Amino acid sequence: MEKIKIKQPSKKLGVLIPGLGAIGTTVIAGIELIKKGYSKPIGSLTQMGTIRLGKRTENRVPLIKDTLPLSKIENLVFGGWDIFEDSLYDAAKNAQVLSNEHIEMVKEKLQEIKPMKAVFDRKYVRNLNGTHIKKGETKFDLAQQLMDDISNFKKSNSVDNVVMIWCASTEIYLKEEQVHKSLAEFEKGLKENHPAIAPSMIYAYAALKMGIPFINGAPNLTVDFPAMWELAKQNNVPLAGKDYKTGQTLMKTIIAPGLKARNIGINGWFSTNILGNRDGEVLDDPDSFKTKEVSKLGVLDYILQPERNPGLYKDLYHKVRINYYPPRGDNKEGWDNIDIFGWLGYPMQIKIDFLCKDSILAAPIVLDLILFMDLAKRAGLSGIQEWLSFYFKSPMHLPELYPEHDLFVQLAKLKNTLRYFMGETLITHLGMDYYENDKIVKDNHAKTQKN
Ligand SMILES: NC(=O)c1ccc[n+]([C@@H]2O[C@H](COP(=O)([O-])OP(=O)(O)OC[C@H]3O[C@@H](n4cnc5c(N)ncnc54)[C@H](O)[C@@H]3O)[C@@H](O)[C@H]2O)c1
Repeated sequence: MEKIKIKQPSKKLGVLIPGLGAIGTTVIAGIELIKKGYSKPIGSLTQMGTIRLGKRTENRVPLIKDTLPLSKIENLVFGGWDIFEDSLYDAAKNAQVLSNEHIEMVKEKLQEIKPMKAVFDRKYVRNLNGTHIKKGETKFDLAQQLMDDISNFKKSNSVDNVVMIWCASTEIYLKEEQVHKSLAEFEKGLKENHPAIAPSMIYAYAALKMGIPFINGAPNLTVDFPAMWELAKQNNVPLAGKDYKTGQTLMKTIIAPGLKARNIGINGWFSTNILGNRDGEVLDDPDSFKTKEVSKLGVLDYILQPERNPGLYKDLYHKVRINYYPPRGDNKEGWDNIDIFGWLGYPMQIKIDFLCKDSILAAPIVLDLILFMDLAKRAGLSGIQEWLSFYFKSPMHLPELYPEHDLFVQLAKLKNTLRYFMGETLITHLGMDYYENDKIVKDNHAKTQKN
């Protein structure tokens, strides 16, 4: 396969993060700790994952980071915005994800980063009240102010390439309206302060306008509508989203494909969570919860396809609850009760009790997305990057396609995209090997690849 041209990574890669809360601080402090050699980048496919290349007999399974021109984590430069003016050091202490010992080890680096004033409106996130906020007559003015911030960040840090990744709060549920249908209508809406334009969209608009890849880590509508796709195409910028796949949904997309593969029926799947961080507080507002609920509920329908498998899944009752419970902080507990049935319809149950740390699961995802989106931009890709569905609860997709939720299909697609970047043969797992006296006598896989 011919190798596509990928520009070399720039000396430094700027990373701009709206929302320097639990995830944002865990990512930045974590990368500083890893750079100092205190830990390994556990959970990160770009840093620790391998990829098989060629036939199995070739035994070529290098580390992904050794075979792709990814930016190095040593070359990442961080900045961001928040509605609270705490430095990253105070924000990390406040988030209570990392131990004081870890935070103190990188205190100086964290103290250096102070958030810029945010674009924020309580109408869209009711349970937060910050004061470190920009003022502007119109939403268009606010977008201009963000673009000025970005230009200043690039200048003062001497960076050319930048990626923006949303780690700010979940906004109230918004549906696509006329104002989202085209770029012209959206820009008119920005100038007229249209209520269906939320702050996250203003950040995304500023990024795309400046040719900066945008990643949406929350379930917000943000870049999931035609006006943004038009802007992304026009400026040749990649987009990805939405809602990081961590915790309970990660478990769901691991277990559901397995049950479906074995044709095991499911009557009910009840998922409930307790969490006590700021994200939990925001999700205590029913309108923000609605945005999250929609993102979490789609998963099973797409994996199990009840319309195609009515005998197994047509009566499936799926319920998701999130309860704000301050004593737990970032230490979430997610329970799943799954009512399944097998041969002759005999009922069985699966119970999962996942005691997880949300931001610890999210941090490596954020790192991978930053590096892959920068790579995508350098490879000339633009618009929705479906190959990154692996990382999202509610993967963005073209209107004519349905989203892929099965974690293993997502991984296969991601790795084949990496092989495409490397100019290597795509692997379909269709080949068959025959063994005689413990030796492979025929490898149909090779034949499939040649054809
Ligand atoms: N932690 C996870 O595993 C996980 C998984 C999927 C999605 N998410 C989403 O990621 C986002 C961040 O999660 P978190 O746990 O870090 O939450 P958090 O509440 O700790 O951090 C969010 C930060 O964003 C700031 N903020 C809110 N609105 C802003 C705006 N308009 N501009 C700039 N800053 C703003 C808040 O002040 C806060 O500091 C949330 O939307 C959450 O739903 C988290």
